[in-house]
Amino acid sequence: MKPYNQVLFDQKLKISDEFAPSECIVVYPGDCLELLRTIPDQMLQLIVTSPPYNIGKEYEKKLHLDLYLREQAQVIAECVRALSPRGSICWQVGNYVDRGAIIPLDTVLYPVFSGLGLRMRNRIVWHFEHGLHCSRRFSGRYETIMWFTKSDEYVFNLDPVRVPQKYPGKKYFKGPKAGQYSCNPLGKNPGDLWVIPNVKSNHVEKTEHPCQFPVELIERLVLSLTNEGDWVLDPFLGTGTTVIAAIRRGRRGVGAETVARYAHLARQRIQQEIEGTLRTRPMDRPVYDPVEAGNSLTAAPWKKETGQIALLERSPEYGKKPER
Ligand SMILES: C[S@@+](CC[C@H](N)C(=O)[O-])C[C@H]1O[C@@H](n2cnc3c(N)ncnc32)[C@H](O)[C@@H]1O
Repeated sequence: MKPYNQVLFDQKLKISDEFAPSECIVVYPGDCLELLRTIPDQMLQLIVTSPPYNIGKEYEKKLHLDLYLREQAQVIAECVRALSPRGSICWQVGNYVDRGAIIPLDTVLYPVFSGLGLRMRNRIVWHFEHGLHCSRRFSGRYETIMWFTKSDEYVFNLDPVRVPQKYPGKKYFKGPKAGQYSCNPLGKNPGDLWVIPNVKSNHVEKTEHPCQFPVELIERLVLSLTNEGDWVLDPFLGTGTTVIAAIRRGRRGVGAETVARYAHLARQRIQQEIEGTLRTRPMDRPVYDPVEAGNSLTAAPWKKETGQIALLERSPEYGKKPER
């Protein structure tokens, strides 16, 4: 049974390609600035996106950082105009790489948001296990989500996104509540470090797009930062993940995508979501632990009892003291 909001979705769901306040689902096949200009002031409750990272992915041309930031600033300014006074913007970014040196994009984008009067509520670290293996720096295994609000009166629903307590059986041991359970039975605040698998080759949601969000990541933001029936926008929609998370939770979803192939893919995935056939990783599933699961590949074949230590033994230079 889908948790769709019955009032909102009693009508037959259709995917429109132009924005109108009466629609529920919009995939605009074109530039996000064009789409944003059709959205009235203060209409959107949540804007969540992972913009192009300017690292030369197939769908982007690598721009000089200044020009990239100017383009981002234009989109962000339009987003702020269309954002409700109680609304939130979540901008999910990684690093810009300049001849091997990294520039964390959140650090250079922060002044754009604060300059427009937004207030940062969290810098969420999204940690995942899979990605490129670097040989001249430590492999990158996190990206960040910058969460800003337009005012101090913002929507924040913690209960729907609580996670299981570490020690649910813990009790107060002294004071007037001694003997009673001390933790919230609904679970705990998920904190600002989110461990959620990224969409790489074996992930159930993987498509041909090189950098999809997992649906569960956006569901957490939709549930906590919006109410049913609210509008959620993703200006850089890719494969439609944000709209999928929004409609799954009874919100309205709108996004723009310039690459026709991805816009088509987004429509297909949203249609599958409407029909209940889209396969996704559930929000409450614990991260797979190969050791706990008894996966035989976790035993090092070169030396069973010491595992990776064998590498050090075979390469004595790793153990040398640094020269002073
Ligand atoms: C990092 S990807 C987003 C992927 C998305 N989060 C998902 O889950 O599929 C950025 C997307 O923005 C699209 N894009 C780039 N510039 C755009 C623009 N000006 N307007 C709309 N889409 C754009 C790219 O084609 C790409 O698919």
